[in-house]
Parts: sequence; structure tokens; C-alpha cells
Amino acid sequence: MEIFKTKTTLNKFLEGLKKNGSSLGLVPTMGALHEGHLSLVSTAISQNDWVVVSIFVNPTQFNNLSDLENYPKTFEDDLAMLQQTSERIVVFAPSVEEVYEGNLTTGDFTFDGLDKVMEGEFRANHFNGVATIVKILFQTIRANRAYFGEKDFQQLQIIKKLVEKEEIPIEIVPCPIEREENGLARSSRNERLTKLVRKQGGFIYDVLKNVKSKFGTENAIQIKEWVIDQFASNEIFNLEYFEITDIDTLTPILKKQKDRKYRAFIAVYADDVRLIDNIALN
Ligand code: PAJ
Repeated sequence: MEIFKTKTTLNKFLEGLKKNGSSLGLVPTMGALHEGHLSLVSTAISQNDWVVVSIFVNPTQFNNLSDLENYPKTFEDDLAMLQQTSERIVVFAPSVEEVYEGNLTTGDFTFDGLDKVMEGEFRANHFNGVATIVKILFQTIRANRAYFGEKDFQQLQIIKKLVEKEEIPIEIVPCPIEREENGLARSSRNERLTKLVRKQGGFIYDVLKNVKSKFGTENAIQIKEWVIDQFASNEIFNLEYFEITDIDTLTPILKKQKDRKYRAFIAVYADDVRLIDNIALN
């Protein structure tokens, strides 16, 4: 495993690999690695000669200073986990200064409305921050493929749009959601849940599975009302939003169409910890 903290030293190493004809995968992360991240890394390893895992808590995508400050940082543990995966891992762990070079601003992107709903609605400027860092990583590393989890499905769609609009030559590979035993989607933020809340975390996925089975017979408004009721009588999780949308446009469903694919999306709070999840409906 190789570890680099600057773009120059990273690139010197990557140039050598590219000269040898090695293919390169990229897994962007904010660290605090768990099985979800590792599943992306292992898919990337199976499809590329070398894999760059970036570890960078990107300040410009946090719309709330306390969320940024509370974001778990477990660098030594992250390295130990990556060490177990493959010898052909390159870790890129730059400082904020190295990435932003004193200019901590976001680019101004257009995502054809994909950023206006759900996470975009509740987290101002979040996706501009995500696109800014991801574009910097794509341009610095110039990998053949980049791996993103469906856990953050809206982010995945926005990255695909970014690549299309900016004509960046990279293949985006979506990876399925990894879950804890009870169904709670794996997340770095789960570490901040109390034991009791984490144990109850399966509730969110149970609701989503019920939504999936209702999708065959009930309309979106009825389903949404049912979901709101479930959370109204739950003492642990507070619902922020629930939506059923077309997977390509991310606009809430009006009337089911035969040839379209749909997903249900949810965001909840347990105390001050914000959790998101989603499920494919058809
Ligand atoms: P982070 O939350 O660390 O997630 C890194 C990648 O791991 C994302 O593509 C995310 O979707 C994926 N991931 C997280 N939990 C997962 C799970 N349970 N199952 C499958 N994949 C999972 O997403 C970010 O970081 C940042 O926004 C980033 C893209 C790195 C830009 O800063």
C-alpha cells in the first residue's frame, strides 16, 4: 500500500503505473471507513490493476459547521482496514490546503434539477461542494473508473451528470448498498448513534421494504401518508423527508409509467444524527 498527501507525489507514482499500462480505479471517500466503503474498494480491485482510495473530509459539502466538526476521523484505523484489502492500493489523503490551495469555494454547476430535490433541498450548496471535490479528484488522478455507492443515490446521479456535462473521460460504476445485520444502511455516522438507537436502526429499512411491497397496489400519496404515520408513532427517528421518484430525473412520481424505474428515498434524524437510505421499487 502506498500513501500520498500531495498531488505532486501522488501523480509521480501514478504516472509510473500508467506508463506500464496499468488500469486505475478511484474510490472517493471521507474516511471513517466501514464495510460499505470496503465493498466499493473490493469491486474496484476486481476491475482494475491499481485502486486509489481518497480520504478527505471535504469542508465545502458540509452546510453545517457542527456536522463537519463531528464527522468521525479515524485515519489510522482506515489505513489498517485498507491494508487488509490488496497490495495495489494507493491512499490519497491530502490536507484542505493541498486540495483547495487557499480558495475554499465551490464551482457553480448545473445538474438539470437533480440537485433541487431531497438532499439538495435540505442541504444548501451540498452538491456543488461534492461536485467541486469530485471534479478535482477526477482531474488530478485521471482514473479509468470511479466507484460510488447507491447509498447516496442522488449523489451518484449528480456525479454521472457532472461527467456528462464536463465531458470527463471516466466510467462511473454504481455499487449496491451495504447494510448492518438489522438492515440499517452502513454509514460513518452510525458510530454516533447510541447502542439502543443503532439496534433499532432496522426500522428505517423495514419501512422501505414495506413501501416496496405497497408500490404494486397503492399510489405514491397513500404510501407517503403511511410512511409519515409510521414515523409519527416512532419515538426514536424523526422523518425529514420521504419521496418516491423517477430514478433518472429524481422528480417525485405523478403517475406510474410502465417503462420507468422508481426509487423511494428517506432522510431521518435520531437526535442530531442524520441518516439517509433508499430502495429500488421496480
Ligand atoms: P462517504 O460518505 O465517505 O462515502 C464514500 C462512498 O462510499 C460513496 O460513494 C458512498 O455512496 C459509499 N457508501 C457509503 N456507505 C455505503 C453503503 N452502506 N453501501 C454502499 N456504499 C456506501 O460520499 C462521500 O463520502 C463524499 O460525498 C465524496 C463522494 C467522497 C465527496 O467528498
